[in-house]
Amino acid sequence: MSNELKSFLEGLDSLAHDCESRKGQACSLKELDELRIEFLGRKGMLAQAMAQLGALDNTDKPAAGKKANEIKQHITALIDSWQLDLTATEANHALSLFDPTMPGRKPWAGSLHPVTLVMDEVCNVLTGLGFEHAAGPEVENDWHNFEALNIPPEHPARDMQDTLYVSDNIVLRTHTSGMQIRSMLQQEPPVAVIAPGKVYRRDSDLTHTPMFHQIEGLLVDRNVSMADLRGTLTAFVRQIFGAQTEVRFRPSFFPFTEPSAEVDISCVMCGGKGESGGSTCRVCKGTGWVEILGCGMVDPNVFKSVGYDPEVYTGFAFGMGVERIAMLKYNIGDLRMFFENDVRFLEQFA
Ligand code: PHE
Repeated sequence: MSNELKSFLEGLDSLAHDCESRKGQACSLKELDELRIEFLGRKGMLAQAMAQLGALDNTDKPAAGKKANEIKQHITALIDSWQLDLTATEANHALSLFDPTMPGRKPWAGSLHPVTLVMDEVCNVLTGLGFEHAAGPEVENDWHNFEALNIPPEHPARDMQDTLYVSDNIVLRTHTSGMQIRSMLQQEPPVAVIAPGKVYRRDSDLTHTPMFHQIEGLLVDRNVSMADLRGTLTAFVRQIFGAQTEVRFRPSFFPFTEPSAEVDISCVMCGGKGESGGSTCRVCKGTGWVEILGCGMVDPNVFKSVGYDPEVYTGFAFGMGVERIAMLKYNIGDLRMFFENDVRFLEQFA
C-alpha cells in the first residue's frame, strides 16, 4: 500500500473518531444540524478529505473511494441516531411543561343580539295582544313601498337621498309599512298583523345606519277608533317599559295615516323629571319624554289601493325602530354598538 493511500485512509478513520467523540455535545436539534453540516456539508470535513482523492495514484483510487463511502455512511448513521434521541428528548420536555390537571378554557357560550332580544320581546307582547306575524321581501317594488301607501311619485320621502334603488321601480324597503299593503291584499278584514324586519335607507352617521330594524303593526276592522290605537299602544308600552310608564300622543304626519301621531313615553332614564343627579337628563335632554314610535289611523287612500271599502272599515297602524327601543331599554348610548359585534358588548346580554 502506498504511503499516500495509507495517510488518506488514516485521515478518514480519524474523521470518524472525531465524529464519535462528539456524542452528546449537540443538546438540541438545531445544534445537531450544525454538527451535520460541519461533517457532511458541501464544504464539510468529509468533503475536504474527499478532495484529496484526486491526487492519489489511479491504482489507489478504488480502495480510497470504497473507504470514503463507508465512513460517510458511518457518520450519517451516527448523526441520524442522535437525531432520533434528541427528537424524543425534546418531545418529552414539551410534554413535561404541559399540565394535564390544569382546568380547561371555558368556551364562550354566545348570546342573542340585543336587536334580536328586543324584536322577540316586542313581537311576543304584540302576539299576546292578538296580532299575527307577517313576513315579506326586503327588496320591494315602488308600488308596495310608496304608491299604495299614498306616497305619490313627487313625494320627498322618495328622494334619492333616502331611498336605496335597485332599479327605477325596485327599492330596498325604506320601512316595513309595505307589509300593511301585502297583508291587506292577502286577506279580508279583520286584519291584525305585525311585521318585523330589516329596512334600508341611504343614511349613515352617528345616529343612522344604512340598515336598521322596524316592527310594523296594523289592525283593520269595522269601528276601529283612535281610542283603540291608544289603548293598544299604552298596553304594549307598559309591558315593554314597565307599568309606571306614561304615554303621550303628539300630532304628526305620515302620508299613509290620517290623523297621524308620534308616541312619546316618560323618559326611561329620569322617569320624566328631566334631570337626574342634579344635571339635565342625557336621554330626554331635559324634556322628560322620549319618542318611540309613529302611528295613526289608516288613510282611506291606502284602503282604496288594496280594494277595502273605507266607508266600511277603519284601522290603525304603527311602526317602530327596534334599535331605538333597544337603546332605551338597555341604556345603550351609541347606535354603532349594535353593528360592531364586540363580544364585550354582546356578552352583556347573555
Ligand atoms: N313607516 C313609518 C316610518 O318609517 C312609521 C309608521 C308606521 C308611521 C305606521 C305610521 C304608521 O317612520
